[in-house]
Amino acid sequence: MAERIQKLLHQKQTTGQVTIKGWVRTRRDTGSFSFLEVNDGSCLANLQVIADKNLSNYDVDILRLSAGCSVVIRGELQKSPAKGQDVELQAGSVEVLGWADPETYPLQKKRHSLEFLRSISHLRPRTNALGAVTRVRSRLAFAVNVFFQERDFVQVHTPIITTSDCEGAGEMFQVSATGEKKDAPFFGSSAGLTVSGQLQAEVYALALGQVYTFGPTFRAENSNTSRHLAEFWMIEPEMSFCDLACNMELASDLLKYVLQDVLDNCSEDLTLFNAFIEKGLIRKLKDVVEKDFVHLTYTAAVEELQKAKADFEYPVEWGIDLHSEHERYLTEEVHKCPVIVTDYPAAIKPFYMRVSDDGKTVAAMDILVPGIGEIVGGSQREERLEVLEKRMQEAGVDSTEYDWYLDLRRYGTVPHAGFGLGFERLVQFATGMSNIREVIPFPRTPGSAPC
Ligand code: 4AD
Ligand code: MG
Repeated sequence: MAERIQKLLHQKQTTGQVTIKGWVRTRRDTGSFSFLEVNDGSCLANLQVIADKNLSNYDVDILRLSAGCSVVIRGELQKSPAKGQDVELQAGSVEVLGWADPETYPLQKKRHSLEFLRSISHLRPRTNALGAVTRVRSRLAFAVNVFFQERDFVQVHTPIITTSDCEGAGEMFQVSATGEKKDAPFFGSSAGLTVSGQLQAEVYALALGQVYTFGPTFRAENSNTSRHLAEFWMIEPEMSFCDLACNMELASDLLKYVLQDVLDNCSEDLTLFNAFIEKGLIRKLKDVVEKDFVHLTYTAAVEELQKAKADFEYPVEWGIDLHSEHERYLTEEVHKCPVIVTDYPAAIKPFYMRVSDDGKTVAAMDILVPGIGEIVGGSQREERLEVLEKRMQEAGVDSTEYDWYLDLRRYGTVPHAGFGLGFERLVQFATGMSNIREVIPFPRTPGSAPC
């Protein structure tokens, strides 16, 4: 409703009968009327309501209203004489649907810390910051789907319960039925929650050409950082007849497209983040949209890091997996823009990545962005049966369990590639939130899964 009121404003139709259904943020009384700030969640701005003391329930209801009460207010929208708003609502009726005891309701007018708000994940969406994050997250999800649908990608719903550990990192949660017998597992063999929809997306890419999956993924990694969740969402496109260069291009286009979309459609919320969460956020997002990303090979990245004046906790030499401190140094200190790092050592990457002619590296690509580090991880896939079998053996992956995956190489194999974009890291980047727990409604981390 508040959104529609804003549209009315835009059309300069600033008067008329309207109804707002929402929650009271504040009440202030003068001798003859009360000011109510009401928010219905559709946008950041509250609507100011004037409730005159002549209203029939003024003494019994309106003078008892406090933060968190739910109301339905009908009235006349008027031009506002006050600074900072164009319209206000002259209430004709105020109906209270639900009270919120001010003695116990945790969201009072003062600014609460994000840490405190995390402890009330069932109430925090009623705050400005978390409401704004939720709207931006929703818009990003919409833009992701539009991006792929406009390019004729087919959305595939890959399974949440699976028997394959795509990343081979042993970070799966096991799934079993209550009371299930060890020797008679529900699914016939041991199953877990997916760490990535990639392998199943490959199945569909080798039939439909270009597909994407966008769903929840789960990792039992015990890392309590500001960029890791045990349950997070991932966008994973997979394309047949595509190599590393085409994969990089799609990933850059996707990031630019969705960030431009929120710049165009979430300006009110971004202005809040720009002022209170990350100064310069809007400029940063515009730069990412407008400027080319830097492309470096892993080898060149290692050279840059070895020349760095920084004092890294993990020393850098060719062959190491890049740590967050290295990724952030490259993107924040050296290049000050998104950096695509390609051609990582085969030994530190999963079995499915395509081995390059040098025999030492794979056609992998990660995209690193300032403030976050890795936001995208992907590769061209190994499409040659014998090479893939050899890689599986070296990685200790039981190829009999992946017979179906090998069939894709036995029958009509094609070069193909794809990547995973961590959705929460994208929302973090777009909102400037430094902790990933702020950008998913109900964060799941080691030791914590409220609601
Ligand atoms: O680099 P990752 O592990 O790649 C894959 O899973 C591939 N199978 C994707 C593919 O090629 N289809 O994860 C991809 C991205 C990371 O770059 C990061 O943004 C995000 O997923 N990510 C996490 N986000 C939040 N919490 C975690 N624990 C994450 N682990 C990875
Ligand atoms: Mg990765």
